[in-house]
Amino acid sequence: TRVAVLISGTGSNMAALIEAANAPDCAYEVVLVLSNVEGAGGLKLAEAAGVRTATIAHKPFGKDREAHEKAVDQALRDAGVEVIALAGYMRVLTPWLVGGWRGRMLNIHPSLLPLYPGLDTHARAIAAGDAEAGCTVHLVTEGVDEGPILGQARVPIQQGDTPALLAERVKTAEHRLYPQQLDVFCRGLERA
Ligand code: GRF
Repeated sequence: TRVAVLISGTGSNMAALIEAANAPDCAYEVVLVLSNVEGAGGLKLAEAAGVRTATIAHKPFGKDREAHEKAVDQALRDAGVEVIALAGYMRVLTPWLVGGWRGRMLNIHPSLLPLYPGLDTHARAIAAGDAEAGCTVHLVTEGVDEGPILGQARVPIQQGDTPALLAERVKTAEHRLYPQQLDVFCRGLERA
C-alpha cells in the first residue's frame, strides 16, 4: 500500500514508519513525506532515508484552509497515495479533505483517547493524577481526535514525571505502535 506521511515538525513517528517499511514483509511503503512547514526537521530525516518529500506551506493560502488542502490533495493523488498517515501534522482538517480520504487516513495521538483530545496531553494526564498514559492510533473523522480507535499502547506515569519525561516515554511507545497499526491496517485493505 502506498502511504504518505504528513508532518509539521520533528518527524520521529514518520522516521519510525519509514524504518519499519524496510522490513521485507511490511504491507506498506512510504512514497511521500509532506510537510506544511518549510524546513521541518522531519524533511531531512525523510530525505536521508531516500523518501520523496514535498512542502506545501499553508501560510500563502491565508485563511482559506480548503485551498491549501486542495494543493495537498493534488500532490497526494499525483504520487498515487492510497493511505495517509498523519504524524504530528498540526493542522485541523476540513470536512472536505476528511471526506475525500474517509477510511484511508490515520492519526497518532499522544493520549489514551477518548481521554485528552487536543494539546498538552501529558501535562493534563499528570495534573489529573493518572497512573498511566499512552498513545492511540485512530481513523480520522471530522471531529478532532475522535475517529474509531485502531490500537493503543500504555505506559506508566512515574513519580516526579514532568510532561517532557512522560512525552519521551510515550514517544517510545508511539514508535512501536504506529508502524504496527499501519501495517495491520494496510493488510486489511489489501484483503478487502
Ligand atoms: C507525537 O507525539 C504525536 O502523537 C502527535 O504529535 C507528535 C509528533 O511527534 N500527534 P513527531 O514529529 O513524530 O516526533
